[in-house]
Amino acid sequence: MNRYFLVTLCASLVAIWLVSCQGTRTGGKNTKILLPTEWKDIEGEYINAHGGGILTYEGKYYWFGEHRPAQGFATEVGVNCYSSENLCDWKYEGVALSVSDEEGNEIEKGCIMERPKVIYNAKTKKFVMWFHLELKGRGYEAARAGVAISDTPTGPYRLLRSGRVNPGICPENMSEEECSAKLDTAEYREWWTPEWTEAVKRGLFVHRDLEGGQMSRDMTLYVDDDGKAYHIYSSEENLTLQIAELTDDYLRHSGRYIRIFPAGHNEAPAIFKYKGTYWLICSGCTGWAPNEARLFSSPSIWGPWEQHPTPFVGEGADKTFGAQSTYVLSLPDEQFIFMADIWKPESLMYSGYLWLPIQFDKNGMPVISKEK
Ligand code: GAL
Repeated sequence: MNRYFLVTLCASLVAIWLVSCQGTRTGGKNTKILLPTEWKDIEGEYINAHGGGILTYEGKYYWFGEHRPAQGFATEVGVNCYSSENLCDWKYEGVALSVSDEEGNEIEKGCIMERPKVIYNAKTKKFVMWFHLELKGRGYEAARAGVAISDTPTGPYRLLRSGRVNPGICPENMSEEECSAKLDTAEYREWWTPEWTEAVKRGLFVHRDLEGGQMSRDMTLYVDDDGKAYHIYSSEENLTLQIAELTDDYLRHSGRYIRIFPAGHNEAPAIFKYKGTYWLICSGCTGWAPNEARLFSSPSIWGPWEQHPTPFVGEGADKTFGAQSTYVLSLPDEQFIFMADIWKPESLMYSGYLWLPIQFDKNGMPVISKEK
């Protein structure tokens, strides 16, 4: 009887795994990729890896994301890691970067860790994680980037440091005149007036934060074909995106950076390269509420960046199907998976996920649709 029960249970579990994966065709070769639809790991637990990204290493995928509590907001656990060989069956690998129990520690339990991304450095053979960090009890004012390191993909990762970006350094695409101009936030107290917008474009917040370093909130990482890595983040009070080159060991900023779309209010950057063009998908800034995604392209990471209409098509496209971008996974044969979060602010842990293939129209423009 017990044996019969066990066999039936195992068979139904296998059936659940099988139905929780769904085939999808991507824009590249006509191959079928299975993507999860149930968002449970192979133990049947809800996957808790929000605002995340994927590291591909030695034929395996490692999904890193925010562990979020069922109730509440702040980080109580850290950054979670799951692994998979097929993008569909995910094994929980545990907490890759843990919060600290030490009072006053930068990543003390109760801080906010968001949008972790991990890249592998082939020269140093280290796995490097960058994430958005807010200090405990200080809301979103710290706007820091944290960096952590590990010898193995799943961790545990060790925090090296956290801070603002490139203190004392002006962005490359601001002229000397703009850099030395005296812009004072006290003179532009009223937000969204034409004068204020103009001042933001001229670098109002770059100036304010020059000494201590630029703000860094929603973020992603990108490793280019030549091994150079970049940190792309919402800066200047979430008004302007910045792209900063990392040092060769990926552990610091090199000092080279640009700002793009000043006062454009872009968040949740996700980047990929297709046929030599860099594509960036972002959201607008409406907190947990979905909005219409934005699309940008450039022939070089350093610009010139150009804006296009949203790549989303079909019903719900004007709200990105209820989701907010977090990462684009680049697969062999020019296949790309757009990854996003469907936030549930009433219980962030159970926020959903949306993964869709990116297709390309006859002009080579990305198109993201729910239609098969
Ligand atoms: C969103 C952002 C998330 C998180 C959230 C907090 O706009 O994309 O990463 O910071 O706000 O309200």
